[in-house]
Amino acid sequence: MHVLITAGPTREPLDPLRYLTNRSSGKMGYALAHAFVGAGHSVLLISGPTELDVPGGVDFIPVETAAEMHSAVAQSLGHIDIAVFAAAVADYTPASVAAHKIKKAAATLTLELVRTPDILGAARGEFGFTGTLVGFAAETQNLEANARDKLVRKHCDLIIANDVSKPGIGFGSDHNEVLLVYPEYNEALPPASKHTLAHHLATVILELHQRRKP
Ligand code: CTP
Repeated sequence: MHVLITAGPTREPLDPLRYLTNRSSGKMGYALAHAFVGAGHSVLLISGPTELDVPGGVDFIPVETAAEMHSAVAQSLGHIDIAVFAAAVADYTPASVAAHKIKKAAATLTLELVRTPDILGAARGEFGFTGTLVGFAAETQNLEANARDKLVRKHCDLIIANDVSKPGIGFGSDHNEVLLVYPEYNEALPPASKHTLAHHLATVILELHQRRKP
């Protein structure tokens, strides 16, 4: 199988010294890449900046911004069977990037931000992807309802949802506790290390891919 995984945060520049980003460590996406390659599949990892080593045997495209991740995914999806969008993509980016360092002046500074492309949301329509499509949802409230809304709106086969308000799991942590949200039902998985969870998720996603084959 050819598997594409997005991972990590994106980094949206403000000026030559500064950027907007988020707390994603990339651990879940990298653990998934490791699990799929260990199961004998061909993996392309498209990742924003992280401190992690790229797992051996994984093809790697490093990106910084949401726009760069969007074009890397657009160029790569053609031969992909399974796409897993684990990246924490910035939803907004500065409307313009200052050519020089923004110097302090007034007591307040207002930044104008504009929407970034929704990469997962573009997969089915704009990119014409027909393979198995898996997204993530990091929520702080109404986990199941918000995840199910994403599943439908972004035409996914599965959303892996986690409640990032729970202490000790999710962003930056080595552990995670997820709810699998399918079109017909949900399945809550017990808390586990991201490594253990990634192996289980890879198996679940491969089974899903086999089931949805015509
Ligand atoms: N995603 C993406 N491109 C974006 C934003 C998100 O590919 N610009 C993907 C993420 O990788 C993840 C899923 O979409 O798989 C969840 O994104 P999220 O930002 O939570 O979804 P939204 O529909 O934008 O909802 P929210 O209103 O919670 O921001």
